[in-house]
Amino acid sequence: TRPLKVALLGCGVVGSEVARIMTTHADDLTARIGAPVELAGVAVRRPSKVREGIDPELITTDATALVKRGDIDVIVEVIGGIEPARTLITTAFEHGASVVSANKALIAQDGAALHEAAVEHGRDLYYEAAVAGAIPLIRPLRESLAGDKVNRVLGIVNGTTNFILDAMDTTGAGYQEALDEATALGYAEADPTADVEGFDAAAKAAILAGIAFHTRVRLDDVYREGMTEVTAADFASAKRMGCTIKLLAICERAADGGSVTARVHPAMIPLSHPLASVREAYNAVFVEAEAAGQLMFYGPGAGGSPTASAVLGDLVAVCRNKLAETTGPGDSAYTQLPVGSMGEV
Ligand code: HSE
Repeated sequence: TRPLKVALLGCGVVGSEVARIMTTHADDLTARIGAPVELAGVAVRRPSKVREGIDPELITTDATALVKRGDIDVIVEVIGGIEPARTLITTAFEHGASVVSANKALIAQDGAALHEAAVEHGRDLYYEAAVAGAIPLIRPLRESLAGDKVNRVLGIVNGTTNFILDAMDTTGAGYQEALDEATALGYAEADPTADVEGFDAAAKAAILAGIAFHTRVRLDDVYREGMTEVTAADFASAKRMGCTIKLLAICERAADGGSVTARVHPAMIPLSHPLASVREAYNAVFVEAEAAGQLMFYGPGAGGSPTASAVLGDLVAVCRNKLAETTGPGDSAYTQLPVGSMGEV
């Protein structure tokens, strides 16, 4: 069987780990896919940076030329942000490639249009890595639970803020002190706005709600409240009530089934609830489905290696589809349930 050609757009923390695992797990990947996968190009911004284990001849700064080459089977997009990622993905579809993306901001904003472009060209668009790193959520919701009816998805989907809230809870520290610790340990970014103001969690909530309820939910539809106002005094009163405070993403189908809502805000959680014991930068998501009951997904929600694990799982699935000359389930079954107003939170 001919090797499947894979190109990487971006070679940062996640991309370099994807390239490394593609090499170290090459035999296993070949066995699971039924054909070898070959790294055929890597688009980067800074070509002079030393990238161990990657053939320098594969490195290019011209991502557009790479996606237009026409011989690439799968593009792995780990650049992040809206542009140029969006244009590169649609160009890749036009030139014969399917796409694996870890880009939550882009999928939350433009997932519907990108899915339509994928379908139009007969390609796949997979993005397990966009939500909660290594934790399988997209595929379980889209495939394993496809015969069930999901009513609620609720959980902790941002590791940075969970680390900060956990530090405040265990040490009695204030928000700023805990944020400084998270930054020093490399959990929080230099600009932590997307995490602490809830934008990152809201993007993930939009993606999860869309898939869980077979509809389309955009970032703008998600009610969002960050956790910067949570104080040490709030934790002290939570403690007196046998609770802790977590930043939750909550996606729900209305009781009458006629609409869905998604929201992100700090919430009191009883210490007896499993979400209360999600520590440090871990993520955990509850899925409540009619027949299945309550499922809990737990694990590392960020980091190069865990995120690369999700990317590689998608890569295997997309490569299998390519060989079988088919595409995966996509979001073709959506029903466009209206996204309701939040009303009382
Ligand atoms: N900033 C994110 C987090 C990274 O802290 O969870 C993973 O999306």
